[in-house]
Amino acid sequence: MGKPYADVIGDPISHSKSPLIHGFWLEALGIDAEYRATHVTPDALPAYFAERKDDPAWRGCNITVPHKVAALAQVEDRSGVRTAIGAVNTAIRAEDGALVGTNTDAAGFAAPLAGLDLAGKPVTVVGAGGAARAVLFALAEMNVGPVTLFNRDVAKGAALLSAFGFEGQALPIGGGVPSSALVVNATSLGMTGQPPLDLDLSALPADAVVYDIVYAPLETGLLAAARARRLVTIDGLEMLIGQAAVAFELFFGAAPPRDRDDELRAILLG
Ligand code: ATR
Repeated sequence: MGKPYADVIGDPISHSKSPLIHGFWLEALGIDAEYRATHVTPDALPAYFAERKDDPAWRGCNITVPHKVAALAQVEDRSGVRTAIGAVNTAIRAEDGALVGTNTDAAGFAAPLAGLDLAGKPVTVVGAGGAARAVLFALAEMNVGPVTLFNRDVAKGAALLSAFGFEGQALPIGGGVPSSALVVNATSLGMTGQPPLDLDLSALPADAVVYDIVYAPLETGLLAAARARRLVTIDGLEMLIGQAAVAFELFFGAAPPRDRDDELRAILLG
């Protein structure tokens, strides 16, 4: 058997930060394994999983754009992410040999919020795509509510609110954010090359938390506006590192050294 390894698959794949993150943790823990980036086109997805399934050195993979939905057809869904989130971002081989898919985005999103009690608190979410579904899945587990959901396509936002059983309302993006304990941007708005996300945060209480899943740039316009109001902010690298941490433990059976996040963040920004 060759050296144990996991990989990240996507099309394109060269931009992925996952090899840097997992590589840093493998080295930090002295684990003799590899984490690779593998370019897989949509046509090649079934063959990729068929080959990996029979490779004893393979521990699993992270799945990125455009395969997060298509990969559902290739893996068993033992944690119910198909109905709840509609996408997989991680696959592993279970002890019985089956290929099993899961979604670590929800847990990765939730990790930085662990110390907060958001049950019954009003929350505002921007977005109704795949990332928003993972965010709403995590927020439903925290029993937050009511939820105000801003989305360009308002009907899509309303459908998502009812799918997750939230009280609240869907609104077009823009205008004022209602008083909320937490505001989350779960779209690519504000990312380099994308339109900005302009929200009026003036109605937020002083202890509100503003969370942006975008990490390029690290300080988005939304986070800059929140900092100007001295609100607590959580940036997109937190979720990126958080979802990787859950996957790393599934692949390599060890918890990553999160006490070295500062070093890791510097590498990711470098
Ligand atoms: P992801 O997996 O990153 O969530 P997605 O499923 O394509 O990607 O969802 C993209 C989200 O960003 C959606 O909420 C989308 O709004 P619509 O549902 O109205 O399409 C939002 N989005 C993307 N580009 C946008 C833009 N230029 N203006 C407003 N919203 C945008």
